[in-house]
Amino acid sequence: MKVGSSQQAHAGPYSEGAVFQQQTSTSFDSNLATTSHCRVPACPRRCLSNAAAATGLVTRRSRRSRPPPAGKGGAGAEPPISRGRRLPELPRVFNPCSRAMKLVACVCGLALVACALALENGLMRTPPMGWLAWERFRCNTDCKIDPQNCISERLFMDMADRLADDGWKELGYVYVNIDDCWMAKQRDASGQLVPDPERFPRGIKALADYVHSRGLKMGIYGDLGTYTCGGYPGTTLDQIEQDALTFAHWGVDMLKLDGCYSSEDEQAQGYPRMTKALNMTGRPIAYSCSWPAYQGGLPPKVNYTLLGNICNLWRNYGDIQDSWDSVLAILDWYSENQDVLQAVAGPGHWNDPDMLIIGNFGLSFEQSRSQMALWTVLAAPLLMSNDLRMLSQSAKEILQNKLMIKINQDPLGIQGRMILKEKSHIEVFLRPLSHSASALVFFSRRTDMPYRYTTSLARLNFTENAVYEAQDVYSGNIISGLAPEHNFTVIVNPSGVVMWYLYPTIQLKKG
Ligand code: GLA
Repeated sequence: MKVGSSQQAHAGPYSEGAVFQQQTSTSFDSNLATTSHCRVPACPRRCLSNAAAATGLVTRRSRRSRPPPAGKGGAGAEPPISRGRRLPELPRVFNPCSRAMKLVACVCGLALVACALALENGLMRTPPMGWLAWERFRCNTDCKIDPQNCISERLFMDMADRLADDGWKELGYVYVNIDDCWMAKQRDASGQLVPDPERFPRGIKALADYVHSRGLKMGIYGDLGTYTCGGYPGTTLDQIEQDALTFAHWGVDMLKLDGCYSSEDEQAQGYPRMTKALNMTGRPIAYSCSWPAYQGGLPPKVNYTLLGNICNLWRNYGDIQDSWDSVLAILDWYSENQDVLQAVAGPGHWNDPDMLIIGNFGLSFEQSRSQMALWTVLAAPLLMSNDLRMLSQSAKEILQNKLMIKINQDPLGIQGRMILKEKSHIEVFLRPLSHSASALVFFSRRTDMPYRYTTSLARLNFTENAVYEAQDVYSGNIISGLAPEHNFTVIVNPSGVVMWYLYPTIQLKKG
C-alpha cells in the first residue's frame, strides 16, 4: 500500500517494570526525592444504550449476551499438526441461541435505526497484541532456497512456539497472524480459498489447531478485490460470505482485510458486508480493515463513526518499512491528524499505525525504545513483525517491558496525543490512564547529543492541586514529591525517549 494512495485517585508505583540498568535520566532543581455465540445478532453495548435511549428501555448488562471468548472454536476433522503435544478438545463453532440472546436481538431490532450494522464479536477491548508476518518476512515463498524464512506452516509454528515458550503469551502477545502470500494461486473447484499445498501441506485448519493448542490465536489475511496486493486470489464482493465461512471453519480468530485491486465503491460495499458475513459465521473473528488507508485516512472520505462500528482496528496510513524514517513518517501523520484520530479510538475499535519493527535491522536501540513508547501512548496494536527466533536481548526487553504493556493495555483505552512541540525539538506526548494516572513521553528529534529538557507538570497542563509520583518506564526509577509548579529535567537521548508513568499520591485541598 502506498501512502495516501487511492487505493489505543492513586495508583501505586509499578514495581515489576523496567529492566534497563542505564544511568538515571532525570534530575531536579528542587528538593525532590528520586528514589458461537448465537446466529441471531447480539447487540453490542454501545448499540444497546442507543436502543434504550430510542425505546425508553433501561438496559442492564447481561453476561449471557456476550459472545464466548475467542480462540475456542473450531472442531477438527483433519489431523492436527502436533509437535509432541496433545491437542485440547475444542468446543463447537455454533452454539444454540439462548433466550437472553433472542431478547437482545429483539432490542437490537427495535433500535435498528441507531444500530443498523455492527460488528458483534465483543473482542479487543484493549489493543491487540501478537505477531504478524508481513514487514519481516514479506512474500518470501521460496521454501527450497529459504526453508526457515519462507511463508509456510513451519514459520507460523515456529513463531507460535516462540510466543508460547519465551514469555510472550503471558504478557498478552497472543495473535499469530498470517499475512499475504499464503494462498495457492487459484481457488479450488468449489471456489474456496486454499493455501499453497507445498507450503501449507496440512492446511490452515490444522495450523490453527496447532496455534490454539499453544494457547494462542490465529489471524489470516485476505483482500477485498480481485487480487491480494501480492497477486494472490482476492475476495470479490460475491465471495465475501463464502470466505468468511471458510475462515470460521478453519478456526481463524482475526482477519486482516486488505484493499488492493478494488474500487472506492467496492470498498464501501465490501467492508461492511464482511462485518455482516463475519457476524453470521457465529465465530468471534476480530476484523482489521485496511479501508481507510486506501481512502487517504481522513474525513470526509473516511467515515470513522462507521468504521468504529464495523471494524476492531483499521490501518489508515502507509505501510511501515524497516527504517526510522518510516516510523517518523507514520508518527508525524498521526500527530498532524490527532484531533481526528484520537477521538475515534477506544475499546473494541483502534487506529493501527502498523507493525512494531523492533528487533529487525532499521532501528537503533534508542529508536526501538521510541517506537515502543510512542505506539503505547497512541494505544496502538502491538503486533510485532520480527524474527522471534533470533531476537536480541535488548529488543526482547523493550518489547516485554511490563509497565509499558500495562500502559498500552489500559482499560480506559484512550489514545494519547502530542501536547507540546518545543523549538528545542523535544516533543511531549500524553496519554490519560485509569486511576487518574497518565503516561508521559518526552521524545527527542535531535541528532546531536543527549538533551537536558527542563519543564514542569504545570507547563504540561497538570492543573490539579496534587502531588505526583512518576515511574520511569525504562529505568524503573521512582520520582516522588512532584508538585505541578516544580521544575524537573529529563535527559533525552537523540531519537530517544524518556517515558513516565505518572500518578497523584496526594490530592491537596483546593484554594
Ligand atoms: C499491503 C498492506 C501490508 C501487507 C501487504 C501484503 O501493502 O498494507 O500491510 O499486508 O499489502 O501484500
